[in-house]
Amino acid sequence: MPFPAPIQPQIAGLESSKIVELWQMGFGVENLIPLWVGEGNEPTPEFICDAANDALKSGICFYSQKRGLPELRQELAGYMARTFDIPLDQERVTVTTAGMNGIMLMAQTVAGPGDNVVCVTPGWPNVMGAIEIMGAEARQVSLDQRDDGGFTLDLERLFANCDEHTKALFIVSPSNPTGWMITEEEQREVLAFCRKRGIWLIADEVYHRFVYEQEVGNSFLQIADPEDALVVVNSFSKAWAMTGWRMGWLTHPASLGPVLDNLIEFNTSGTQGFLQHGCIAALRGGEPFVKQTVERCRQGRDLVFQRLSAVPRVRATSPKGAFYFFFAVEGMTDSLNAAKKILHETGVGLAPGSAFGKGGEGNFRLCYAGTLDRLSEAMDRLIPILGEDL
Ligand SMILES: Cc1ncc(COP(=O)(O)O)c(C=O)c1O
Repeated sequence: MPFPAPIQPQIAGLESSKIVELWQMGFGVENLIPLWVGEGNEPTPEFICDAANDALKSGICFYSQKRGLPELRQELAGYMARTFDIPLDQERVTVTTAGMNGIMLMAQTVAGPGDNVVCVTPGWPNVMGAIEIMGAEARQVSLDQRDDGGFTLDLERLFANCDEHTKALFIVSPSNPTGWMITEEEQREVLAFCRKRGIWLIADEVYHRFVYEQEVGNSFLQIADPEDALVVVNSFSKAWAMTGWRMGWLTHPASLGPVLDNLIEFNTSGTQGFLQHGCIAALRGGEPFVKQTVERCRQGRDLVFQRLSAVPRVRATSPKGAFYFFFAVEGMTDSLNAAKKILHETGVGLAPGSAFGKGGEGNFRLCYAGTLDRLSEAMDRLIPILGEDL
């Protein structure tokens, strides 16, 4: 149907997410096991919900500071400082409406028509969507997939894709969907390149707690100076099981604070004060929950890896970070149709690799953040069909 009045071409032409396309097909499927989106099946811990409830009941229902309550920003600065062993002040922290809004705020800040932002793929499609909404190009540089199914980044190719219109490099590590993690040496080279070019480095570290061979993922903040053009995107969604709360934060140079303050005014005008009290509780008392969640993910990862490894046509490596398997199936060339077939025949929801940009086709993404019994049942249903022609 034609639009009743003009719509900006980049909005009208925005490709809908293939993950969402499948997710919508799942409504009404009996005994569905959804492993297509990035969340588990455990609710937010009660003490976090209670803190938000209590705050709402006590009258925290009015407009509040756009960049977040000072109490939460203080708590976040403390969390970042102790997690990454760096000095950090609350002037460098801004609360956002989850990670997605943090990404959108940064796309608005750095990109416009004629610009490009260079992104590593396969990557979470929403990052590219945010850049495209601004009329800029999301320039994709794909990771190299090794014979064993693992991924590496060719830094020379990454840098060669930047030109005079490049405004930022966007790096997600640990990566959704591949689990790839940037090394400290690579981080240093990327940071040096951005400094030399005078461009932004936007680092999405929402999976920094989901690492299986070290305590936390290495943050660009650990090697950068406070006034480097570095912005780190973070979220309460994953580590504290708060996907539906829509709460996150950015860590940035202090000089960007007033810019974000102003920009937030015209986007969301700030996040809900009572939800921020839940976030304070999460930071103060959530460590045991986070550790337990990461441990469960490790077990889920091992369970899925063991089962996938038994299928000769599947090529998968055990990811070092995040909570996804991004695995190739020999002979499969249309992952969207194959994921639909799997959904209809088994009731298991996988995300098609083609949803994640260059280098994604031929793979499926499977989220292993759920409980082990659910993952085990999903694998019982999946293994036979993965051995068939897809
Ligand atoms: C790489 C990455 N960044 C950011 C997000 C944003 O999550 P949220 O908007 O729930 O904070 C996600 C969610 O899946 C993600 O995978």
